[in-house]
Order: sequence, then structure tokens, then C-alpha cells
Amino acid sequence: MRTGEKGIAVAMILSVAIIAGLKFGNKEDVAEEEMDIPFVSNASPELANKAGNILRTLHCRECHFIWGTRDLNQAVPAPAIDGVGEFRDEAWLFNYLSSEVPQDILPSRLKPKYRMPSYAHLSVDERQTLAKYLATLKVKDWYLQDATKKRYEKLTGNDYTDDSEPIP
Ligand code: HEC
Repeated sequence: MRTGEKGIAVAMILSVAIIAGLKFGNKEDVAEEEMDIPFVSNASPELANKAGNILRTLHCRECHFIWGTRDLNQAVPAPAIDGVGEFRDEAWLFNYLSSEVPQDILPSRLKPKYRMPSYAHLSVDERQTLAKYLATLKVKDWYLQDATKKRYEKLTGNDYTDDSEPIP
């Protein structure tokens, strides 16, 4: 390599290193990472564990995002469960899970096979555990507006605007 070429090679290596440094050393990335987890719950570890087992056994993640995850091979346009405790309390959730026809409570615009199934057959204890746990699922403030919008669009199929009526 001639001196000129060497200089270019060194400059290239340096700029790659600088870009990498900017990318990994950037303080804003830390804030962004924190913003990736907008969900909170004050459930006790026992409750979270017990409810978590039921959610897994019943494959709620085939349709719903819970803690930001769902089964990857599924594409049911169900609303995310994260943050559901912001607008549903334990009594509502227990009632909903106990309903023979959940669509009588929350109407659906989806094909029957994608709709919320009835969990009326679960034991009272299981339904109570789920309702109690789901009611603890909240979202951080900055995310609430975004979640409200997404849920509205999932449930109605319409764009959310400032004039949109909130859905019960
Ligand atoms: C087959 C897909 C499917 C499965 C499985 C499923 N859900 Fe749903 N769920 C839905 C859909 C779709 C809705 C929206 C209402 C509708 O279209 O029936 C919904 C609505 C809900 C709601 C109300 C959300 C809101 O915005 O008020 C809750 C709570 C809920 N589901 C919890 C659960 C839990 C807990 C499980 C597991 C025990 C579960 N779901 C399993 C599809 C599903």
C-alpha cells in the first residue's frame, strides 16, 4: 500500500470506530431502552406467578401481547392486554372472563375464530386470579396515549383522531 492509500484505510477504520462509538456510547440509547418497557404492575410475585401460569396454559398470547410478547406465528388482531388495568377493574375483568358470550360485553368486529373465547368454564379461583392480576397491569404515562390510540384502532378498524369517542 502506498502512503496515500494507507491514510485512506486508516481514516476509514477510524470513522467506523467513531460511528460505532457514537452508536454504543450514546447516552440517549439508555433512555430509549427504558422507554422500551412502558408497562408496570404492582402484583405480588405470588400473584404474578400464579396468573402467569394460567396465561401460558391457556395460550392467551396466541392472540394478545402480554408484557410486550406474543406467539410469533399468530396474527390475530386482538387488543394488547398490557395496560388493560388502566381502563378495566377487577370486577369488570372477572365478569368478562366469566361471560358465556364475551361479545355481549365487548362487541367484536372480527371473524368468530379470532374473537375472545369464553372462559366461563374456568374455576372461580382461576378467573379471580386472572382478573386480579390483569387489573394490576398499567402503562407508564407517556405510553398511555399511544396505547389508547392503538386499542381504538384495533377494536374499531378506524383511525384515531382528537375527535374520536373513547371506547368503553
Ligand atoms: C382467539 C384469540 C384470543 C384468545 C386465545 C384470547 N383472547 Fe382475549 N380477546 C381477543 C379479542 C379479539 C378481543 C377483543 C374483543 C373481541 O373481538 O372479541 C379480546 C379481548 C380481551 C380482553 C378485553 C380487552 C379490552 O380492551 O378491554 C381481555 C381482558 C382479554 N381478552 C383477556 C384474555 C385472556 C386473559 C386470555 C387467556 C385466558 C385471552 N384473552 C385469550 C382474542 C383472544
